Amino acid sequence: MDTSQQHTDKVLQLINPSDIAESIANIASAYAGKVVLSTSFSWEDQAISHIIFNNGLPVDVFTLDTGRMFAETYSTWSRTVDMYQQKITAYYPDATALQAFIAEKGPNSFYESVENRKQCCFLRKVEPLQRALKGKEIWITGIRAEHSNGRHDMPQVEYDAVNNIVKYHPLLHWTTKQVTDFIAANNVPYNPLHDKGFVSIGCQPCTRATKPGEDFRAGRWWWEDADKKECGLHVHEPAAAQ
Ligand code: ADX
Ligand code: SF4
Repeated sequence: MDTSQQHTDKVLQLINPSDIAESIANIASAYAGKVVLSTSFSWEDQAISHIIFNNGLPVDVFTLDTGRMFAETYSTWSRTVDMYQQKITAYYPDATALQAFIAEKGPNSFYESVENRKQCCFLRKVEPLQRALKGKEIWITGIRAEHSNGRHDMPQVEYDAVNNIVKYHPLLHWTTKQVTDFIAANNVPYNPLHDKGFVSIGCQPCTRATKPGEDFRAGRWWWEDADKKECGLHVHEPAAAQ
């Protein structure tokens, strides 16, 4: 058994499947100062933030501010800080690298090629993520299996070899109704775009609303082939390869 497997098993043992607050509290105490939640202010992330903030759990919450997010996302962020009075740390793209990229390719080059799009995602999300995860051991996300086909076979706890960290997806098996019921019952502030057909909300130029019945992922990078639609934040190996 390798250390990443031991690490993953240890986290699994700390989880109470029927109590997310207890699970996060157990993990935060076993890995004191080494647990983070990434938030894009989606309603999944807002539900987890609520659990963390409301229970005073010692987990650092961070967002990757790409600079291209929706106005509604920034207002959701602002309302969240006002409501909970808790710290949310923002990580930004490296200014020099971004400046050079924009000077060479222009502000909207992501529509021109997958290569440009991945480079933009790398500069605005992936590299800042590496800084956010530095020195951490557990990364909590709001990923749900319903989000895309590639997420159906994800385990709730998995080792991310790229970032050398264990990921925990507490809402992995929640349905949309469970998420919206939780948000409503707890009066959690949420992004108003969710009420306008946006299921998965990323950067403004790369996200659009979906129609009922459409795949959740259809609203992201819609001009690209379905198999290329990942930004590099979540590199997930198929279950058979694990
Ligand atoms: S992505 O792979 O398309 O970029 P998605 O929007 O599905 O991600 O969100 C999945 C999870 O990734 C979120 O629940 C959140 O934990 C994390 N995430 C996505 N975008 C950001 C962001 N800009 N800042 C912080 N975390 C993010
Ligand atoms: Fe750039 Fe679009 Fe990726 Fe945002 S989602 S980082 S704007 S390519």
